[in-house]
Order: sequence, then structure tokens, then C-alpha cells
Amino acid sequence: MLLCKIWIFGFLTSWFPSAFALDIDLKDYKTLQNASALVAKGLMDYYTGEQYGQTIGMFSWPYYWWEAGGAWNSLIDYWFYMQNDTYNDQVTQALLYQSGENHDYVPLNQSTVEGNDDQAFWGIAVLNAAERKFPNPPADQPQWLYLAQAVFNTMALRWDMTSCNGGLRWQIFTWNSGYDYKNTVSNGALFHIAARLAYFTGNSSYVDWADKIYNWMDHVHLIEPKNNDQKFVYDGVEATNNCSGPVTRYVWTYNQGLVMSGCAYLYKETNDERWYNKTKAFLDTTAKLFYNKGVLFEYSCQSSHSCNTDQRSFKAYYITMLAATAQLIPDFSERIMGLINSTAYGAAQSCVGGYDGHTCGIDWNQNGWDGQYGLGEQMAALEALVVTQAMNRPAPYNSTNGGNSTGDGAAGTQKAPTNLKPLHITSGSRAGAGIITCVVGFSIIASFLWLVM
Ligand SMILES: *[C@@H]1O[C@H](CO)[C@@H](O)[C@H](O)[C@H]1NC(C)=O
Ligand SMILES: *[C@@H]1O[C@H](CO)[C@@H](O)[C@H](O)[C@H]1NC(C)=O
Ligand SMILES: *[C@@H]1O[C@H](CO)[C@@H](O)[C@H](O)[C@H]1NC(C)=O
Ligand SMILES: *[C@@H]1O[C@H](CO)[C@@H](O)[C@H](O)[C@H]1NC(C)=O
Ligand SMILES: *[C@@H]1O[C@H](CO)[C@@H](O)[C@H](O)[C@H]1NC(C)=O
Ligand SMILES: *[C@@H]1O[C@H](CO)[C@@H](O)[C@H](O)[C@H]1NC(C)=O
Ligand SMILES: *[C@@H]1O[C@H](CO)[C@@H](O)[C@H](O)[C@H]1NC(C)=O
Ligand SMILES: *[C@@H]1O[C@H](CO)[C@@H](O)[C@H](O)[C@H]1NC(C)=O
Ligand SMILES: *[C@@H]1O[C@H](CO)[C@@H](O)[C@H](O)[C@H]1NC(C)=O
Repeated sequence: MLLCKIWIFGFLTSWFPSAFALDIDLKDYKTLQNASALVAKGLMDYYTGEQYGQTIGMFSWPYYWWEAGGAWNSLIDYWFYMQNDTYNDQVTQALLYQSGENHDYVPLNQSTVEGNDDQAFWGIAVLNAAERKFPNPPADQPQWLYLAQAVFNTMALRWDMTSCNGGLRWQIFTWNSGYDYKNTVSNGALFHIAARLAYFTGNSSYVDWADKIYNWMDHVHLIEPKNNDQKFVYDGVEATNNCSGPVTRYVWTYNQGLVMSGCAYLYKETNDERWYNKTKAFLDTTAKLFYNKGVLFEYSCQSSHSCNTDQRSFKAYYITMLAATAQLIPDFSERIMGLINSTAYGAAQSCVGGYDGHTCGIDWNQNGWDGQYGLGEQMAALEALVVTQAMNRPAPYNSTNGGNSTGDGAAGTQKAPTNLKPLHITSGSRAGAGIITCVVGFSIIASFLWLVM
């Protein structure tokens, strides 16, 4: 299907290439809506979950399951900032379907390969749904907050005291390589989710957890240095020697974003100046490290042209978390919006590639498309465009200022959730896709017969 579309668009755009250029003017919302609609469409072109024999909520190879969670998060932002609900039903269907048998984002199909970080990114997507007041699921199905709490609770239960005095391992299961690595994205994401649940629910247990996780990361040198002038978040550390080092010193945008914005949520919730100072230190550091002429780039792999499939999506998470930070702490808004706006222009000029004319590249600092493409590139550019509206849209909602998603502090720890009925996702759209495939198949056979005769 995708190939077919690319071929047809390629034919058209080779004749009218400029008709598809993405011109944005940040003072004109309409231009952003138009441009981001094309980029979002480009993202959904990678979605194969509704095709015959594919699985709802998943993007096919080479995109791992976790990145699908990230992609749905980007589409929630698309809806929220661009006020376009075209994909909402698909987002809801995907988020519910992949929540799995226990509604905790450890679906049976992933359960032998899933890592803590994989689960966390789906948790972050449903948290976003709760905070943005994304339309609630039907009442007989698990609600966004419930799902996020289930992710938090099941992850927190894996807090591992057998080495390093705590921390999450990267992998959930002993047989997966990476089990002996305590990485930042797993721990940073649990910190981030705890901070957001604290902000949403006001339950102080989440603040205590966030504090504990941050202190642990600090203690094993995943966050450095100790002073408040700057702060780097490093990749991870081996548990086999009790996390005595050396620390793997890659700095990724998404890790920096998870921890920075987590601090911002905690500051907003607790008013504790400690979290304010930390937010500022992370912001100071990222603003220096991750921007080239005001345009965001993936510091640890982009200049060496070595970003893998996963790493190509990291900027997407960082950008949405940067925008939340701007919304939560007004002192930082102006500065952050400067970074966001210059990055948006960079991303827009990159999204003029491919045969469809709205494929986005990875390098946003060159004039035009750089020839790279993929789900990660498309998600990151979509976020770059839509968050320019951060100051024109409400800050994250919570349970006391309008958010009405419901949850349960014990979610995910009950064997069978007592307050929910079993999931019933309609098979309508998949049957529909099947019928189309059949019709196409039939007409191919028919024209073949016609030719023969
Ligand atoms: C960035 O662009 C947004 C959207 O147009 C605008 O509201 C904001 O004032 C701009 N901020 C800066 C610092 O350029
Ligand atoms: C946005 O797209 C619509 C429909 O394609 C078009 O009519 C309109 O002129 C576009 N607006 C801007 C500002 O580009
Ligand atoms: C909403 O999004 C769809 C799909 O991306 C697009 O076709 C449509 O033009 C968008 N509408 C507006 C008002 O941006
Ligand atoms: C699990 O895999 C089976 C077989 O591919 C598929 O039919 C089912 O929809 C999948 N379920 C989930 C939650 O991914
Ligand atoms: C591992 O390090 C912790 C402190 O981080 C210490 O309490 C514990 O005794 C150490 N365990 C081993 C086996 O060295
Ligand atoms: C909710 O948001 C408000 C700001 O709008 C904040 O003051 C409050 O601490 C947040 N958390 C809760 C649980 O109310
Ligand atoms: C936060 O930073 C300010 C300015 O550097 C400093 O005066 C204050 O003591 C810091 N607060 C905390 C709790 O570290
Ligand atoms: C939550 O708020 C939305 C509108 O923001 C409303 O449509 C919905 O009915 C509310 N749900 C509940 C359970 O109050
Ligand atoms: C607060 O959060 C803790 C930790 O998840 C949970 O055990 C407890 O039930 C929650 N309390 C309420 C009132 O929801």
C-alpha cells in the first residue's frame, strides 16, 4: 500500500514538486495546521496496524513496539495543539488494544521481550491523554489515569535492591540482554511518570517515589555534576559491579527531557525550590548542548550519522517534554519558546522530501530534506511544529483544575481489575481493511482473466 502510494505521489511530484512545500508562519495558526496535517498524514502512512493480518496499535518492522507508544503520544499532541481530531479514534483504539490482558502495557505478545523503558513510553502516552483531556475511553473500559497508574505500579514493583542499592534494570526478564544494565531511560521514565502522577493526583506517595528515584540516579552518577549550574543525564551503568562504574556517558535528548520536565512537574506540585533549580540546570545544559544555530539535533549520534531506528525518534519525546516545561514554569517560557520556534522553522524546511513531498529528514539544520526518512523523523518533526502553540493552549490539566480521567492507586497490582469489564474492541476496521484487500485482489484476478480472454 505504502509503496503504491509513494510511487503515485512520486509520479505527481516529479511534475509539481513545489506545490507540496511546507511554508509555515508562526504568527499564522492556519499555516501550522496545514503543514502539520501533512506531516501527521506522513506519520500515519507508516501505520500498518489496520491492514489484514497486522495488529492494531503496532507499526511494522523496523519499528519496535515501544516506538508505537511514542507515535500515539505524538498524535495526541497533534490533536491537542492543532485541534484536529482526525486520528483520535485510531489513537484510542490503539492505546486500549495494546494495554494487554492486565491493562498495564505488558501484553502477552510483548511479554518475553519487553523492557521497562518500553512499557514506560506507553504509560507516558496515556498520561498525556489524561493531562490533555483527550476524550475518555468508554466507561466500561480502563481509563487513561488507571492505565498510567498500572504502568507506574508494575514498574515500581521491579525496583531492584539486589544490586546498586536500588534502581530499575533495563530489562524485565533475566533472559534478555541488557538485564544487567541499569539504564537511565527506565529509571528516568519512572521518575517522570511518578512526577506527573503526583501532579495529576496530589498523592504524596508519588512525590516520595520521584525523590527516591532521583536520588538514586544522582548517587550512581547517572546525573552529573552535583552542582546546580549544569546537569547531564547519562545513558546507564552496569549492575554487575554494583554500579561502581564506569557510567556510559552518552547524552540523549529524551533522557534530558524526561528528567528536566519531571522536575518541572514536581516543582509545580510541591513548590519546592530544589526542583525549580534542577529544572533550570537541565534547561541550561540542554540549551547549550543540543542546539546548533537554534535548531535541535540529536547530540550523541546525529553529527556522526549513526542514529539507529530508535534514536531517530528521541527528539520527539524531548520536544513535547520541553513544551510541558514551558507551560508549567512561566519563568522559563520565553526562553523555551525561542528554542521551540527556531527549531520549528528548521523542521518545516526539512519536511519537503520523499515522493509525497512531506517526508521529514533527521537534520533540520540544512536547507531542505537530507534524504533520511522514517517513523522517528516524522514523529519528531510533527512535535516540532505543533508545540509552537504551547503558550496558546492550556498547561497540563490535573484532578483539581479540570482533568477528569479516573484511576485507582492500586491499578496493575490486582490480578483481575474489579472495576472494569473485559475489553471489547470492535473488529470492524480490520474486517473493513480485509474487505478492501479482497476487492482489490478480486479486481486484479478479474483484469487478468479479461486480458487472457
Ligand atoms: C513562538 O511562536 C509562538 C507561536 O506563534 C508565539 O506565540 C510566541 O510568541 C513565539 N515566541 C518566541 C519567543 O519567539
Ligand atoms: C490551508 O489549507 C486549505 C485547504 O487545503 C487552504 O484552502 C488554505 O488556503 C490553506 N491556508 C493556508 C494559510 O495555507
Ligand atoms: C485535519 O487533519 C487531516 C489529516 O491530517 C487533514 O486532512 C485536514 O485537512 C486537517 N484539518 C485542518 C483544519 O487542519
Ligand atoms: C497478539 O498477536 C496475535 C497474533 O499475531 C494478534 O492476533 C493479536 O491481535 C495480538 N494482540 C496484541 C494485544 O498485540
Ligand atoms: C553495593 O552498593 C551499596 C551502596 O550503593 C552498598 O550498600 C552495598 O553494600 C554494595 N553491595 C556490594 C555487594 O558490594
Ligand atoms: C494541579 O495544578 C495546579 C496548577 O494549575 C497546581 O497548583 C496543583 O498543585 C496541581 N496538582 C494538584 C493535585 O492539584
Ligand atoms: C536555588 O538557587 C538559588 C539561586 O542560585 C539559591 O539561592 C537557592 O539557595 C537554591 N535553592 C535550593 C533549595 O537549592
Ligand atoms: C470529562 O470532561 C469532558 C469534557 O472536557 C466531558 O466530555 C466528559 O463527560 C467528562 N467526563 C466525566 C467522567 O466527567
Ligand atoms: C497513593 O499512591 C500510592 C502509591 O502508588 C498507592 O499505594 C496509594 O493507594 C495511593 N493512595 C490513594 C489515596 O490513591
